[in-house]
Amino acid sequence: MMYFDYIGETKDIEMRKLYIIGIGAGNPEHVTVQAIKAMNKADVFFLLNKGESKDDLVRLRKEICERYIDDPSYRTVEIADPVRDPATPSYTSRVEEWHERRAVLYEEAIAANVGEEECGAVLVWGDPMLYDSTIRVFDRMIARGNISFDYEVIPGITSVQALAAAHKIVLNGIGESVVVTTGRRLADGQFNSAENIVVMLDGSCSFKDFPDAESDIYWGAYVGTDKEILLTGKLGEIAEHIEVARNEARERNGWIMDVYLLRRSQ
Ligand SMILES: C[S@@+](CC[C@H](N)C(=O)[O-])C[C@H]1O[C@@H](n2cnc3c(N)ncnc32)[C@H](O)[C@@H]1O
Repeated sequence: MMYFDYIGETKDIEMRKLYIIGIGAGNPEHVTVQAIKAMNKADVFFLLNKGESKDDLVRLRKEICERYIDDPSYRTVEIADPVRDPATPSYTSRVEEWHERRAVLYEEAIAANVGEEECGAVLVWGDPMLYDSTIRVFDRMIARGNISFDYEVIPGITSVQALAAAHKIVLNGIGESVVVTTGRRLADGQFNSAENIVVMLDGSCSFKDFPDAESDIYWGAYVGTDKEILLTGKLGEIAEHIEVARNEARERNGWIMDVYLLRRSQ
């Protein structure tokens, strides 16, 4: 924050600062120079503990901190992620309630751990603008008005970019559009006529029921990590094979993250 003193010079007023930092989708080398600079300013890192068996993901965050932060005196604070209340009937209200509870937890953790002139950071998988709630939760914290801070978002490499690079593809055909959606929405059938569809968060292999078997699918799991699996082909020919590979990999590793592009036949 800047202000002008009485002779017109600008001075910095130190204020509690938070960074939401995109760290890329699994390869520590996705981390940008801008992210490294922000990480080196942070006194404290907040880790949202989702209570999952994704040890690899926790390890990657630690590896990134150890590799890129020069002064190891930073602190880490774990925040236990609240569970969504299954009793709340609509999906949207369930997520809204969950975000509100996350906002309260962040608010308490920031107030208790980041001094007025200190800097905190949240490391977000991929990029914070894609299927991630951190920015929304921060906006809620600001709207609640109980805590003051300045915050900045540092972009990261998304899993979609990592997928496209791994397959050496452009997402769109010349002049075409790209839809980015979830497995749930794909299964609803609302994008059946889209030209290029990127699907994330698909625990049910919704591609199996996509009506155009002549589509090309470019599928990737653990993209960018040392567990990366890439498969591509005509949907009708390869869908079952992808499902089997997906199930085997999830069994082997205890978790899976996969993303794919469906490109409709012309
Ligand atoms: C909660 S979203 C987070 C997306 C993230 N913010 C991004 O920029 O990629 C999680 C979904 O991202 C995708 N994903 C994230 N990392 C991935 C990876 N390394 N390989 C494959 N898919 C990944 C999967 O579809 C997963 O279900």
